[in-house]
Amino acid sequence: MENNIIISPSALACDFAYAADGIRKVYDAGAAYLHLDVMDGLFVPNLSFGPDFIRALRPHSKAVFDTHLMIVDPIRYIDAFVDAGSDIITVHYESCENVAEVLTYIRSKGIKAGLVIKPKTPVSVLRDFLPLVDMILLMSVEPGFGGQSFIPSSLDKLREARAMIDASGCSIDLEVDGGVTMSNIAAIREAGANVIVAGSAVFRAADPAAAVKALKGEQV
Ligand code: DX5
Ligand code: ZN
Repeated sequence: MENNIIISPSALACDFAYAADGIRKVYDAGAAYLHLDVMDGLFVPNLSFGPDFIRALRPHSKAVFDTHLMIVDPIRYIDAFVDAGSDIITVHYESCENVAEVLTYIRSKGIKAGLVIKPKTPVSVLRDFLPLVDMILLMSVEPGFGGQSFIPSSLDKLREARAMIDASGCSIDLEVDGGVTMSNIAAIREAGANVIVAGSAVFRAADPAAAVKALKGEQV
């Protein structure tokens, strides 16, 4: 496999008590991004962490902080997550009153904007927003929990999104999130994803650094 793939380990799966150590190891192993899953207990039936956790990690990592907001009405908290050190903020299509306004606001802060859809939301809703995004994220599990199984029909959605991005001529990354394993990574990449979130597959592995290298297709 080529190595233009970006791995974004999900901090949700790391040991929070030793988070700085865990994220340093995966960055050193070649994971250029760190995925930060923010959950409010309303948009999804789970709570995770807020901007203070991200701010605390920021001095310990050179990774691109890839913040995934699973919260209701995310425009209320964009400033807080920018100030905490996010490099990319991705918001749910389903959670925004005015999607274009939120994406434009994120970019106005000098960082990248991402747009994410849940498994049951069609790829076609993304089309109007392509000029406003730096990254499209497709959920391949229902958002809310790590450690779930990849929904197979996500591969078709990835292919559709990849074709839409390529046809648009815009420079947009295609990220996938949920249930990525060593067994399905090849199919996921073939379907067109270039940024890969991996929680359990990295932080629950016996050797997270080796897991990052393996996901990148490198010899370990
Ligand atoms: C789910 C989160 C994911 C999750 C991925 O709501 O958005 O980022 O942490 O975890 P795994 O890789 O274990 O499915
Ligand atoms: Zn996520």
